[in-house]
Amino acid sequence: MADQAFVTLATNDSYAKGAMVLGQSLKNHKTSRKLVVMIGPHVSDPSRAVLRRIYDEVRLVDVLDSGDSAHLAMMKRPDLGITFTKLHCWKLTHYSKCVFMDADTLVVSNVDELFDREELSAAPDPGWPDCFNSGVFVFRPSKETHGKLLQFCTEHGSFDGGDQGVLNAYFGDWATTDISKHLPFIYNLSSVALYTYAPAFKQFGSKAKVVHFLGPTKPWSYTFDPRAQRVKGDVEAAASHPSFLLEWWILFASSVVPMMRQEYGDMAFHSGCEEEEILLAAPQPTLSSLERKNNWEQGQADYMGMDSFDNIQKKLDSFLK
Ligand code: UDP
Ligand code: GLC
Ligand code: MN
Repeated sequence: MADQAFVTLATNDSYAKGAMVLGQSLKNHKTSRKLVVMIGPHVSDPSRAVLRRIYDEVRLVDVLDSGDSAHLAMMKRPDLGITFTKLHCWKLTHYSKCVFMDADTLVVSNVDELFDREELSAAPDPGWPDCFNSGVFVFRPSKETHGKLLQFCTEHGSFDGGDQGVLNAYFGDWATTDISKHLPFIYNLSSVALYTYAPAFKQFGSKAKVVHFLGPTKPWSYTFDPRAQRVKGDVEAAASHPSFLLEWWILFASSVVPMMRQEYGDMAFHSGCEEEEILLAAPQPTLSSLERKNNWEQGQADYMGMDSFDNIQKKLDSFLK
C-alpha cells in the first residue's frame, strides 16, 4: 500500500484550500494509501505548512501552461491552461499506481477500491460522455508516459486547452476498448446531472463517493455562517447539490480553518467563515428513515448526526458485506 497514492494539484492558495479539504476527507474516510499534493511556487508558506500536516508528501513542481487561449476561451475558462501541470503526476515513479483527484473534489466515502483499476480509468464527462472527465483518474507513474504526454502536447496541443483534452486524445481508446476503465459516475459526481437528469440525481445521488465541484464557482468562492451552518450566496451556481457544498464547508470550517489559524498566526488569511468561533450545531432529534430520505432529497442531510462520516461509513460497510 505504501507504493500507492492519491495525488492532487494546487498552484495557488485558493486551490490549496480545496486540496486541504480533499486530503482531510480522504483521511476521515480512512484511506490506507499515501497522500501527495503537487504545488506550484505561488502557494504561500503557511498554506504549505497546513498541507504538510495533511499530506504525506508536498511536492513542488514547475507550472506548465498550455498558453492556448483560443481553445480555453471556447470553454470560457482562460485559467485552465495551467492544468497541464497535472501531467507531472506521471513523474511520481516512487509509486506504482496512483489516483489523481482534482483539488475541487471531496471524498464522501472510502474509495481505496479504485486501486483495483488499471490506467487509464476515469468516469465519463457529464458534458460529453464519450470523453472521460480528468478530475478523477487512475494512472501508473512512468517517466516514459510522462515524456510521451509532453511530446503529444507539443505536437498536437489540446482540443480544450487543458489536460482533459490531451489525456482524452492520448488515451483515445478509453470510450471503446475496456469497460472496466469506465469508473461509475458516483466516483466523479458533478451536479451538472442535477440539471440535466434530476430524477437520476435524486435516485442515485446519495450513493456518491466522490463529489466534483466542476465549473467556475468553487466551494471556497462562498462564505459560510458557522452558527447557522449555512453556506451563503447563490448555492445553485456551485454545480453541486447544496448538501455536498455544506459537507465541504463543515469539513473546512471544523478541521482545516483551525490548522490555518495556527499556521498563519498573525498573518491575515481569508477563511470565508463569517465568525471567528466555529460552532457546530447542537445534536438534532432522531428522524425516521423516511424523514431522512425526504430531507436528503431536499438537500438537507444531517451531517452532524445520522449522516455523519462515521454513520455513513458504518452503513456502507454493512451494505458492502
Ligand atoms: N488547478 C490549479 N490552479 C488553477 C487551476 C486549476 O491548481 O489555477 C488544478 C486544481 O487541482 C484543479 C484542477 O487543476 O482542481 C482542474 O481545474 P478545475 O477543477 O478548476 O477545472 P474544472 O474541474 O472546473 O473543469
Ligand atoms: C475539465 C476537468 C478538469 C480539467 C479541465 C481542463 O472540465 O474537470 O479536471 O483540468 O477540464 O482540461
Ligand atoms: Mn475540477
